[in-house]
Amino acid sequence: MVEEIKRKQLFNENGDIELSKRRMINGNTTNLNDFNNMKYTWVSDWYRHAMNNFWIPEEINLTQDIKDYRNLEIEEKEAYDKILSFLIFLDSLQTANLPNVGEFITANEVNLCLTIQAYQEAIHSQSYGYILDSICSPEERTEILYQWKDDPFLLARNKFIGDQYNDFYYNRTKYNLVKTVIANYILEGIYFYSGFMFFYALGRNGKMPGTVQEIRYINRDENSHLWLFRSIILELKKEEPELFTPENIEVFRNMIRQGVEEEIKWANYVIGDHIKGLTMQMVEDYLKYLGNLRCRGLGFEPIYEGYQREPESMSWVSEYSDPNAIKTDFFEGKVSAYAKSSVIEDDL
Ligand SMILES: [Fe+2]
Ligand SMILES: [Fe+2]
Repeated sequence: MVEEIKRKQLFNENGDIELSKRRMINGNTTNLNDFNNMKYTWVSDWYRHAMNNFWIPEEINLTQDIKDYRNLEIEEKEAYDKILSFLIFLDSLQTANLPNVGEFITANEVNLCLTIQAYQEAIHSQSYGYILDSICSPEERTEILYQWKDDPFLLARNKFIGDQYNDFYYNRTKYNLVKTVIANYILEGIYFYSGFMFFYALGRNGKMPGTVQEIRYINRDENSHLWLFRSIILELKKEEPELFTPENIEVFRNMIRQGVEEEIKWANYVIGDHIKGLTMQMVEDYLKYLGNLRCRGLGFEPIYEGYQREPESMSWVSEYSDPNAIKTDFFEGKVSAYAKSSVIEDDL
């Protein structure tokens, strides 16, 4: 469990070029970006997909949101502010942590993906800044950004996630790397979702359409990050089977379980049963379904009995999160359609 992990070298004239020697971790990389010499061939699809997902936050019109924000019900406004505060934290932490993961990944093509992902996470944080700059005063904006300083619940939520990343940051072992990669997978595939659901519920109620559109673009990016991390974990399973003993898999499944439970608690706190068209029962059903789906994505046994299918009451969530019918099949790891952002804008 405490097996050492080696930081990747930087300039390394003796690095291995042969694909057979390339490894996700503890390999001997040259760091050369050779697009025609990839061991992990899914990277080509992922890279093209990520490039085609390019979008610019300021191209989305927030005029309606400026009016709507002042007319939100008190519970809607509180949820809006707290969820935005949490999402800004998540995207900021991702931007900071991805290079930290990349430092130990010795497959150069995978590092390319992590770099693009970090860039996208930075855009996500900036898009929240753009939303806040548009709809509220600088004082309100700062208050929302740093709400965790005054809200112990939000602070505990952020700390729980931050501590998982800190484990690997301060204690470099192979085991902690896998845990941090799984924490990433949970973050991309579970933590964002009660926030996304809330914004989509507002959208269904005809409120904050600009914010909803920003969130749809972010959601699309997060889906591709989930795909990336799932692929990394599956490769690690093949290359480092000793890290995936039944005992360790139980630890990883428990991380997913705890992720779902934390998210349900959080949703109870910020959303409750106060938002039209979204009940806690719906949120809980959906999150348990996601927990099972994420387990299945890694070849683990599901956690929750039942909950194998997307709850019918929540099918509108995937309609929202699929803005231009990009079909990404995470289980096959294939992309069956590409679209540029200009096409998406026409569609929305
Ligand atoms: Fe993000
Ligand atoms: Fe992400």
